[in-house]
Amino acid sequence: MQNVGRIETLIAKMTLAEKLGQLTMTAASHAVTGPAVAGDSLDAIKAGTIGNVLNLIGAGHVHELQRLAVQRSRLGIPVLFALDITHGYRTLFPVSLAAAALFDPLVWERTMRETAREAAADGIAMTFAPMLDVARDPRWGRIVEGPGEDPWVGARMAEAMTRGLQSVELAAADALAAVAKHYGAYAAVTAGREYASVDISERTVLEVHLPPFAAAVAAGVSAIMPAFVDLAGIPMTANAKLLGGWLRERLGFGGVVVSDYNAIAELIEHGVAADLAEAAALALGAGVDIDMMSGAYRRGLPIALERGLVRVQQIDEAVRRVLTLKERLGLFDDPFRRGTRPESASAIRERRELARAVAARAIVMLSNERDTLPLASGLNRIAVIGPLADASAEMRGPWWAAAAPEGHVTVLEGLRAALTGAQILHAEGVAIEGDDASAIPGAVELCSTADAIVLCVGEAATMSGEAASRAHLDLPGRQRELCEAVLERAARRRVPVVAVLFSGRPLAVPWLIERAGAVLAAWFLGSEAGNAIADVLTGHTSPSGRTPVTWPRAVGQIPIFYAQRPSGRPSDPANRYSSGYRDESSAPLFAFGHGLTYGRFRYANPRVAPQSVTLRDTIEVSVDLTNEGARVAEETVFLFAHDKLASLARPCLELKGVAKISLGPGESGSVSLRLAAADLRFLGADLEPRFEPGEVELLVGPCAERERLVGCVVRLAP
Ligand code: BGC
Repeated sequence: MQNVGRIETLIAKMTLAEKLGQLTMTAASHAVTGPAVAGDSLDAIKAGTIGNVLNLIGAGHVHELQRLAVQRSRLGIPVLFALDITHGYRTLFPVSLAAAALFDPLVWERTMRETAREAAADGIAMTFAPMLDVARDPRWGRIVEGPGEDPWVGARMAEAMTRGLQSVELAAADALAAVAKHYGAYAAVTAGREYASVDISERTVLEVHLPPFAAAVAAGVSAIMPAFVDLAGIPMTANAKLLGGWLRERLGFGGVVVSDYNAIAELIEHGVAADLAEAAALALGAGVDIDMMSGAYRRGLPIALERGLVRVQQIDEAVRRVLTLKERLGLFDDPFRRGTRPESASAIRERRELARAVAARAIVMLSNERDTLPLASGLNRIAVIGPLADASAEMRGPWWAAAAPEGHVTVLEGLRAALTGAQILHAEGVAIEGDDASAIPGAVELCSTADAIVLCVGEAATMSGEAASRAHLDLPGRQRELCEAVLERAARRRVPVVAVLFSGRPLAVPWLIERAGAVLAAWFLGSEAGNAIADVLTGHTSPSGRTPVTWPRAVGQIPIFYAQRPSGRPSDPANRYSSGYRDESSAPLFAFGHGLTYGRFRYANPRVAPQSVTLRDTIEVSVDLTNEGARVAEETVFLFAHDKLASLARPCLELKGVAKISLGPGESGSVSLRLAAADLRFLGADLEPRFEPGEVELLVGPCAERERLVGCVVRLAP
């Protein structure tokens, strides 16, 4: 219950130090005797000078600190406990990029609901998720944490994940406050280099990077975290135009803005603040309420006040927003409501089952020559080779919250459980990274008696995520050598090879796609990874994941994404003076939306109704599909728009909707997608939305490859 009187009474009683405590978030570390707060003492909690704590795990520890705050501090204000819980807490679901491959808002909401339940049962009240950075550069390691390359997908994920985490009632014992991050255009860092400067057009910021944040705000997200980076010279932590202007004024966001880790102090490194006081004043002035880990507010704001750089009212406003969030979370009414009731065994078991089903649907079958998959039944010996074949901890992906390294099903374990009649052989061959190739011959030897080979290769979990940009997008270490040796032996014996590729980003591996019978993008699928992969390999589940990000053939093609503008000389391999490269095709390795199934879908009869619309109308686009394959499968149908003639050049394709249909062999059905005519507006030369009369192509199909889409035209009338 919101109690405005309580908050105002508290603010009136608070000393400056207590106010700044509410604007401070500090990391916990586990001291030998129990939880401690880094660089500080538990006395600070009692003194009310730390109001928010991150990284404390375990309901017992959380409650211990909470007791200090509510029972021993002068005003008894509860502490807000936060953690990065991005794709599960102990039970891990697929990492966000893999979840995006489902193109399914209901699943995004459900997995986040389960995640919130599990974390809240351990005393946590806030998570630094969803991560909503639209990323078009796979060198950037944090691409794994977000929705992929498309703003429409980002916006749908923002809504669904916010709903799932926060539930209908933020005060519920199983709800978490969500933090949409990293506000701005973090993913556009120069050359994909982590933390580098961002310098892109205002149009791209508004059209590509901000829509997911607008959607999160509309869905009621509790907090926003600005990115570490600067945008054209203005660090996001001090960006008054985008924080105060766009977020607070234009979108009406009234929640909390929490800085990223040490980001306020880093304003000094950015070269825009001379000292902590200036840094604190810039951040507060831009609208940042909570200082995570830089101590700039506690140490710098008193000096900034003396210098006249900030006003007490600004501090009070920030405190008011933080206390309001604590109140909405129900912390004043019962600070121990989260973490009091342990979860039942059946709830935990059902969550694991959900994790398995979701992980299987996140797998993207990149290639499947001559129906290599599913594996033939009755195989006697299967060789499971590679450094990721039996790597439980890696299945977690980056940001594993409270999940222990062990207990996440590996491919080896999954296949052994699924194929009890077969002999499953295993060799690592090489490590994920490093130079030792001495075990390759042994691994190849093992393959010489196998009827099928499953190669499990790719990145380690920590090779994507924060501070994990890569300049090379091939397999790390000596893995390519391992693959080539195995592929060569298999080719001689005509034994099928399936590559299961683990990664937090698309990898530029055309050689592997050309030579392996089938390749699965397994991303990082979480606790049930191995079972889910076995479900797809054996044909128990028909793969249905679609890549939410374009796969490049070569690093030189990056940034690469489907929503390109045509240019004055559109790419044409037959014409040298058209947009492209001398030494590489401009086509991607795999287009956005690509992903094979065990079915084969034919699209026919696209139609639109009505054929002419005005701004307030709704458009319905329908198409008929037939599964001409031999197995039941789920098809993902994408709806793209293309405004061929407008007042400025528009992308050749823009995603506007997604639908799913499951059809048996020989079965036909149709899907209909609804689209508000207003969604066909775009930002004019003045960057304001325009509904321009004229024709817009509406195209449906299996991915963002123009030749595979079927379409119709809608007329926009004034
Ligand atoms: C990351 C954030 C994260 C925060 C707290 C930072 O380094 O950029 O995404 O939420 O740490 O762990």
